[in-house]
Amino acid sequence: MLLYMPTKVYSEQGCVEKHAQELASLGSKAMIVTGKHSSGKNGSLSDVTGALENQHVPYVIYDDIEENPSVETVMKARELAISEKTDFVIGIGGGSPLDASKAIALMAANPEKDSTVLYDCNEALPYFPVACVPTTCGTGSEVTPFAILTRHEKRTKKSISHKMYPALALLDGKYLKTASRECLVNTSVDALAHLVESYLNTNSNELNRIYSRQGMYAWAEFKDRLKDDALTEEDYGKMLHASMIAGMAITHTSTSLPHGLSYPVTYELGVPHGRAVGMFLGGYVEQYEDQKEAAKVMEYLGFPNAREFHAYLKDLLGEVKVPEELLEADAAAVMDNPAKLKNYPFAITKEDLIRMAN
Ligand SMILES: [Fe+2]
Repeated sequence: MLLYMPTKVYSEQGCVEKHAQELASLGSKAMIVTGKHSSGKNGSLSDVTGALENQHVPYVIYDDIEENPSVETVMKARELAISEKTDFVIGIGGGSPLDASKAIALMAANPEKDSTVLYDCNEALPYFPVACVPTTCGTGSEVTPFAILTRHEKRTKKSISHKMYPALALLDGKYLKTASRECLVNTSVDALAHLVESYLNTNSNELNRIYSRQGMYAWAEFKDRLKDDALTEEDYGKMLHASMIAGMAITHTSTSLPHGLSYPVTYELGVPHGRAVGMFLGGYVEQYEDQKEAAKVMEYLGFPNAREFHAYLKDLLGEVKVPEELLEADAAAVMDNPAKLKNYPFAITKEDLIRMAN
């Protein structure tokens, strides 16, 4: 059994300001990687630039990261990182900018390499330090070694082959305040799926379940107010906390079938990641072969049984219509993916997978 979590985490109000010195000490010039609008609106971008200015550390901003960032975007940002001679990266935002910041830190530290090393490389490459400031509560990318990019040539999304842990994660619940309800729902369901899929996973054990169990307790605390659209300021901190712990959980176990089934739904239909995963999650727990284990998950999350849990998710996410042919092809692709199948501890058929859909 192994437990390894090298990212230093501060989870508290005002943490960017409080730990400005530590943030600035990661290098001599920062590249800030973010999306177009939200980091400006929620105050995270000005907190980070203010912290760097106070510490007299120069920076450049790349704010053109799209949803589900592509390899092409990473390479474009890398050009700026190299020409501006930056030597550390600060990702601000949801999973997209955070994942992109890791891939950019890798490519910028290896200017002689082309993008093929992101996926086809057995060699451990050096990378610049990465700090992450999450402003959504889903991926937990601020503590995971994963960086999921869209590969247009393969028509899917996949994590790069390099394991890259951020050096520093700064979590302040106030950045969730301006997020839309849809964003909060979708991302927190993603975190929920990370917790459940990590716990009910071939790779889970008593040591790494410290994370998934604790994260489920945290999720249970705000679940009713999330459904009723009655979240409090305190809940925002809890939601970030739960998604960060969920990130630690999947770092040790990886995800399972709901995530495997969700990727084509996102790629082909544009359904947001958390919503796409959520449409398979209730069915996954209801059909999980060891119902004793599934019952423990329900207990940690505060649901009387898997049926209620499934109904809660349907209510929260609404119906997602997936064409039958896509579902068929999707299930067939998972059946052909030994890496994903092995995380489910039991035998499964294509029909079982299709039945997991809402
Ligand atoms: Fe996810």
